[in-house]
Amino acid sequence: GTTLASAAAGKGRYFGTAVAASHLGESAYVSTLNTEFDSVTPENEMKWDALEGTRNSFSFGSADRIVSHAQSRGMKVRGHTLVWHSQLPGWVGGLGAADLRSAMNHHITQVMQHYKGKIHSWDVVNEAFQDGGSGARRSSPFQDKLGNGFIEEAFRTARAADPGAKLCYNDYNTDGVNAKSNAVYAMVKDFKARGVPIDCVGFQSHFNSASPVPGDYRANLQRFADLGVDVQITELDIEGSGSSQATSYGTAVNACLAVARCTGITVWGVTDKYSWRSGGTPLLFDGNYHKKPAYHAVLSAL
Ligand code: XIL
Repeated sequence: GTTLASAAAGKGRYFGTAVAASHLGESAYVSTLNTEFDSVTPENEMKWDALEGTRNSFSFGSADRIVSHAQSRGMKVRGHTLVWHSQLPGWVGGLGAADLRSAMNHHITQVMQHYKGKIHSWDVVNEAFQDGGSGARRSSPFQDKLGNGFIEEAFRTARAADPGAKLCYNDYNTDGVNAKSNAVYAMVKDFKARGVPIDCVGFQSHFNSASPVPGDYRANLQRFADLGVDVQITELDIEGSGSSQATSYGTAVNACLAVARCTGITVWGVTDKYSWRSGGTPLLFDGNYHKKPAYHAVLSAL
């Protein structure tokens, strides 16, 4: 393949990027997107605050623009994200338990039905575990008021809303074997044992010098795949530049390719110009949309 998407397709994988609706009027952004990628993840437009800032009043406009761009170009769409403690409108945190449960299920159902048939994988729950060694759940309105069962309730509701979408749990600092990934692993194992509908686990894979690509990345992806779920690299970016950044990107891509159930890779943005890591250069295209050494390393790994 001569593009990221065509090379990945040759290996049976998709190659995606996060996209912001606000950049879809920029020709260099759009041409790079259209040429190189075959899956998109709305970077912010499908988060709760963007879609339902006011209870039961849904604003799908920006997310719809990304979905229709993708569909007109034959790209797939990852849905991100239904239940997350962040970018959550204030009204959600003010609800009592019974009301919060119905608001959560209503949000999942309305959003998934709106996009039914158009999303290959949904991040149903994002970042529900704490960092560090405890393996505990992160405090959030959902965790604090509904308890541990909120995650499986969200997945059951999601399955009913769009049975054709793959349902993923997504998190960061779970890329290698550690206490946090062990806790997610135990949850997925339990879900599979009890028939809770889960199809995939997303590994965000935001890497930097303090948190480099783990040496056991492949082994960690493989142990999750061995539970009977797909795995996906969902938000890949790697701080740095030049050949060391390129080498790390190659290592990350090779980890996915070595795991049969690693179905695709998404990088968290098209160009360094718009990376969420302000001032950083963690992506495959520089601010002028020129291919970086990291791009060439990914293409040759694929
Ligand atoms: C980030 C976006 O890239 C930013 O534009 C926004 O300001 C904050 O969220 N984990 C996730 C993503 O799951 O949704 C986050 O995206 C990055 C970390």
